[in-house]
Amino acid sequence: MLNVILNGANGRMGRVINRLISEHDDMKVVAGVDISAQQLDDYPIYSSPADIREDADVVIDFSHFSAVPGIVSWCVEHKTPVVVATTALDDACQEALNTAAEVIPVFQSANMSLGVNALLKAVAAITPALEENFNVEIIEKHHNKKLDSPSGTAVMLADKVQEVTKADKNYIYGRHSKHDEFSMDDIGIHAVRGGTIPGIHTVMYCGPDEVIELTHTAFSRDIFGNGALTAAKFIVQQQPGRYSMDDVLK
Ligand SMILES: NC(=O)c1ccc[n+]([C@@H]2O[C@H](COP(=O)([O-])OP(=O)(O)OC[C@H]3O[C@@H](n4cnc5c(N)ncnc54)[C@H](O)[C@@H]3O)[C@@H](O)[C@H]2O)c1
Repeated sequence: MLNVILNGANGRMGRVINRLISEHDDMKVVAGVDISAQQLDDYPIYSSPADIREDADVVIDFSHFSAVPGIVSWCVEHKTPVVVATTALDDACQEALNTAAEVIPVFQSANMSLGVNALLKAVAAITPALEENFNVEIIEKHHNKKLDSPSGTAVMLADKVQEVTKADKNYIYGRHSKHDEFSMDDIGIHAVRGGTIPGIHTVMYCGPDEVIELTHTAFSRDIFGNGALTAAKFIVQQQPGRYSMDDVLK
């Protein structure tokens, strides 16, 4: 039995993970942490990691970037592997994950879906051949409750383009008030918010007289939840270090 603590247990993704785990005989949520501390299930929900009394095999975090350092410190103190899915982590937070990874296995991905991680591989494969003649534009669309923009996934896609191209890329977030000439080294990143869209990401390669579009559409949040459970099962078998979906999708 894999005992799990959920950070951000009462959020949209926390509820998804809770439901998916209830469908698994070999996994169980033993406690949750959420600033709201509202009791929604038969396990305790604490308002702070400091209050956790249960032991767990793994912590899954879908919360808020401000909550990540606290839960990661708890994981280090209790030698518990952690899956960090929360997005918009700043440099200090990434550094905290690096330090934690010296002591515990740390799995992090701004997108836990199998399909998006396959899209990243596709981007890595086709971008170098298009670098000279094609502009890259990334468009992401999400529900109107999403707090951060652009999405962590849009930035992952831009970072993947940057990783496999020779030139230093400029990330251009929207073009309001921009009147400069467009550079081949610009990557436009655009966010659309509305309704209940779980997440659509398109990478456009715009060349002379031809366009390639690679699109991933999420139809439900289960894709992120199932990916996080795969990550949790993977990470409990690893040595301390940093891991991502690249390590799972070999
Ligand atoms: N990596 C992925 O595949 C993936 C997929 C979906 C969402 N996300 C990210 O996961 C995070 C949560 O997404 P969501 O849609 O569930 O958001 P949400 O707003 O519905 O849920 C967040 C939960 O975290 C709680 N919270 C806020 N601050 C906290 C704190 N300091 N301590 C403890 N709990 C705190 C909130 O009360 C809320 O219940 C976001 O960063 C989102 O971008 C990642």
